[in-house]
Amino acid sequence: MEPLAVNENGTQLQQLAHLQSRLIYVTPSHHFPYGVSMSIQQRQALIHWAKEVDGFIIEDDYDSEFRYAQQPFPALASLDKSHVIYVGTFSKSFLPGIRLSYMVLPKSLIGRYKRYFAHFEQNASSLHQLTMASFMEKGEWTRHIKRMRLIYKHKMSFLVETLKKQFGDHITIVGEHSGLYVLIKFHTHHTEQQLIQSALEYGVKVYPTSPYFLQQPSHEPIIQLGFSNLKLDEIQLGMQLLKKAWCTN
Ligand SMILES: Cc1ncc(COP(=O)(O)O)c(C=O)c1O
Repeated sequence: MEPLAVNENGTQLQQLAHLQSRLIYVTPSHHFPYGVSMSIQQRQALIHWAKEVDGFIIEDDYDSEFRYAQQPFPALASLDKSHVIYVGTFSKSFLPGIRLSYMVLPKSLIGRYKRYFAHFEQNASSLHQLTMASFMEKGEWTRHIKRMRLIYKHKMSFLVETLKKQFGDHITIVGEHSGLYVLIKFHTHHTEQQLIQSALEYGVKVYPTSPYFLQQPSHEPIIQLGFSNLKLDEIQLGMQLLKKAWCTN
């Protein structure tokens, strides 16, 4: 397995030329954890690579629904149908508990998929699948996403504004244009673990990002803050508690 480097400015596609692999897994709409999206030029470059090496791209279109700053970019699978395996999930955009996800295969792989996965027993309930299909047919899915995008956009901008007020120049905010969480790079001598622990002592759960890097990108801790199920006053309270936890000594 070979990694392709991603930093907060995006995927380092120039490294594609050095890869031995012919199969690549990417999250072009919303990289985890940086939250960066691939531009249309990058998407075209990636497809060009797949054609050159006669390979495949697994496009995990995770969090594509929640983009706040610009229109969504076209999926790789809509730009090229023969080299892209498109996968998506309803876990973030709807209900994680129903375990519904989907895959769109290039025609050339369907025969092989049927042969090799004939005995694969998927465990998503048929009732949930049919209910979701009917929800989509009635246009409710599109309405749901539009509604949720507005709600999350409002929460994200409130969180970012409050973070700036509370922490000013002590932090750099990363990934605020999409997704259901934001990263803060903390300009501090404290470690990631110390920040998580002191937040927890004030009753606020925040998450590490270090497990997701093969090489740590900086000596400064990068902390993940989720907000999707919080109300605005809970976000406000959380930020006040974090200020006490992180800025009292
Ligand atoms: C990159 C990525 N893809 C997909 C998912 C969704 O996975 P699932 O459908 O198993 O909940 C997640 C969940 O956090 C994720 O981080």
